[in-house]
Amino acid sequence: MDCGEQYPVDKIIYACEKCGGLLDVQHDTDYLNKTVNKALFDQRLGTFEAPYNSGVWRYKEMIYPDVPNDIVVSRPEGNTNLYRNAKLAAWAGVETLYLKHEGENPTGSFKDRGMTGGVTQARVLGIERVACASTGNTSASLAAYAAWAGLEGIVFFQNKQIALGKLAQAIAYGATGIQVDADFDRNLELVREIADRLGIYVLNSINPFRLEGQKSIMIEVIQQLRWQVPDWIVVPGGNLGNSSAFGKGLHELYDIGLIDRLPRMAIIQADGANPLYRSYKSGFREYEPVHAETVATAIKIGNPVNYKKAVRSLKWTDGVVEEVSDQEIMDAKALIDRQGIGCEPASACTLAGLQKLVRSGIIKPRETVVGILTGHVLKDADAVIDYHSNQLEGIHPQYANKLHQSEATIEALSAILGVPEATPA
Ligand code: F0G
Repeated sequence: MDCGEQYPVDKIIYACEKCGGLLDVQHDTDYLNKTVNKALFDQRLGTFEAPYNSGVWRYKEMIYPDVPNDIVVSRPEGNTNLYRNAKLAAWAGVETLYLKHEGENPTGSFKDRGMTGGVTQARVLGIERVACASTGNTSASLAAYAAWAGLEGIVFFQNKQIALGKLAQAIAYGATGIQVDADFDRNLELVREIADRLGIYVLNSINPFRLEGQKSIMIEVIQQLRWQVPDWIVVPGGNLGNSSAFGKGLHELYDIGLIDRLPRMAIIQADGANPLYRSYKSGFREYEPVHAETVATAIKIGNPVNYKKAVRSLKWTDGVVEEVSDQEIMDAKALIDRQGIGCEPASACTLAGLQKLVRSGIIKPRETVVGILTGHVLKDADAVIDYHSNQLEGIHPQYANKLHQSEATIEALSAILGVPEATPA
């Protein structure tokens, strides 16, 4: 992406050999102009035919056009709901809020959209072992897709603070799991080095084929909005793979004329893991990795590998970056959960950040907003129970749903249920 050097798609490579920069999958715009249109993608909606039944491969021409259909590794992923929610919109201060729930993917997070691209590429390359470092969701997804494709999955976990649901998934799906005494950022360095030595394929978001899959979130949102462009896309930022992929996808949709303008993008970070936010505040003149600490363990990342691509996305979309506290994250999560939608803590950055951006006047009440929910509520059940039982250190739950204890008598139950409790919005 920096120096313009080109490499063939069947070369195993994660960084430019000339300048060390990140790699993009480069599409042939002439081919896309000739083959891609709204009718083609609309006609594939609801099909049973693989791989076009996937919410990633429905857009195959824009993702990985010449890969043979029979080697695509798909569960199928995507096709996630876009919820319009009036109560959460009112809470955030906008008239129209849609939430795109990527927790509805096969393994419960948006990572499946990237993993279908990455594991398919492992097959193209004929590699039998795939690996990642992860705060949890990438490993759950890698483990599932590797198992499905008959490959060995290898996952490096930081030694503390992995949400149990994610750890359980990786073990259940049969990955070789290693808890390493290091944080996510160090684990990512280690996985890259060991993979080089042992001939293992790295499936973190430095892998550009992952980001091709993830950009389908933007294409699907816009298709679900009948090809109308919202004013804002709000997304949590950790390793910044999604933000990078979204900018690229939107730019390509614009280039081939499927949309006539770009939405603005807002990236929300936890204030304890906010290197992009800090850099944004300096007008991107400075960038310093941070030591990350947040209740939203999925985004506990201090040195995001996709920093440069995320900055590019922000420039393309006239985007902004906001930060939110753990308290704000957990309260916003409780509200999303209470709508019957639910999400994991990192996802709730979206709603918490949106409210802050409306209050500061950056997002206007009449602008249409799409917020991305990145992971399923059950990924981190401990966070739910701890919040509602006031066990989270430093957090005072504003929307706690107290669990009652009762003797097994009608009288005791009536004492609890007789008078309906006032339910907050
Ligand atoms: N939300 C969830 C639920 C995540 O799992 C992640 C990243 C993010 C948001 C941030 O997305 O990295 O594209 O900016 N989880 C990675 C993992 C790092 O290892 O599972 P990003």
